[in-house]
Amino acid sequence: MPIPRKNCEILFSRQRIAQEVKRLGMEIGATYPQGNILLVGVLKGSFLFIADLVRAIECSSMVDFVRLASYGSQTSTSGVIEFRKELEMPIRDRDVIIVEDIIDSGYTLECLYNKLLLQQPKSLKICTLIDKRARREVEIEADFVGMRMDDGFIIGYGLDYDEHYRHLPDIYTVKGI
Ligand code: IMP
Ligand code: MG
Repeated sequence: MPIPRKNCEILFSRQRIAQEVKRLGMEIGATYPQGNILLVGVLKGSFLFIADLVRAIECSSMVDFVRLASYGSQTSTSGVIEFRKELEMPIRDRDVIIVEDIIDSGYTLECLYNKLLLQQPKSLKICTLIDKRARREVEIEADFVGMRMDDGFIIGYGLDYDEHYRHLPDIYTVKGI
């Protein structure tokens, strides 16, 4: 069901997103001057973010993906996480950064973080485009944060509502769902 336009309002413009991604790229580059980092994108929501981020980081990097799905309603998670695609690259002794679109309850990231830690990376950090703190249920902090928001549901720049709206270049809040 399409969301009526009147229910959508721009929260983060494409210009703001580009500015924060550039800043994140610089922060990450400065943290790993030696380069050779591995970015692990969490599909599907982070696909646009990681595409822009990898070009904003000046040190050398590689990219791999995992695909996670959390059961629940369309706008909130149940905390039950399913792995639908595993990493393809070994991460042992590597500097790894998980790249997420948004941290909400934190269940998805906590689950992924603990799983990757078992594979003994040299370091494991988290980069999220958006930190939605109001609904956090587990204690997990991102090391690199693009933007913060209060409660609410957002779409665009990779973020979906029932698989729609990922293509929108700006991020919108949605009312009434
Ligand atoms: P968590 O496990 O509750 O932290 O859920 C994180 C995942 O839920 C994210 O990776 C997103 O895919 C999805 N998600 C959480 N909040 C939103 C939102 O406001 N819009 C779209 N997807 C969201
Ligand atoms: Mg996601």
